[in-house]
Amino acid sequence: MNWQEIDIYVARKDGLYLYDANKNVLNKILDEDIRGATGGQDFVKDAPINLVFVADYSRMGDSPKESKDFYSATDTGFISQNVYLYCTSEGLRTVVRGWVDREKLGKVMKLKENQKIILAQTVGYPGN
Ligand SMILES: Cc1cc2nc3c(=O)[nH]c(=O)nc-3n(C[C@H](O)[C@H](O)[C@H](O)COP(=O)(O)O)c2cc1C
Repeated sequence: MNWQEIDIYVARKDGLYLYDANKNVLNKILDEDIRGATGGQDFVKDAPINLVFVADYSRMGDSPKESKDFYSATDTGFISQNVYLYCTSEGLRTVVRGWVDREKLGKVMKLKENQKIILAQTVGYPGN
């Protein structure tokens, strides 16, 4: 269907960004450091980057919610795996994370009703 329903948000010390894949740029959407809200583990607040994969269900037509859940999760898996491959090629460290308080994070990120947080993924340097 080529829904392209997954948006990648990037939480950094200097703020929250939304990745524009077409232009290959990060657009800042919040000035706050929200890294600590991206997961339940201590390291997330200090990591250089936390990615948050968010599905926009409004791009997925009239398909049933079960299908939206399924394809959003599958697509996030592919994207996350590509991040793993890139990190390995560049000597970076990464971990995908399901331990996320999605309700709290959604509020902090000011997400809309139709946006659903699927997973988060931390990227850092070896030894950090
Ligand atoms: C869907 C999914 C969710 C995960 N959630 C977390 C998480 O919340 N926190 C965490 O530290 N690791 C999480 N992991 C990472 C696994 O714990 C990790 O991949 C596993 O322990 C294997 O370690 P390795 O990737 O270093 O081989 C998750 C992995 C997957 C696939």
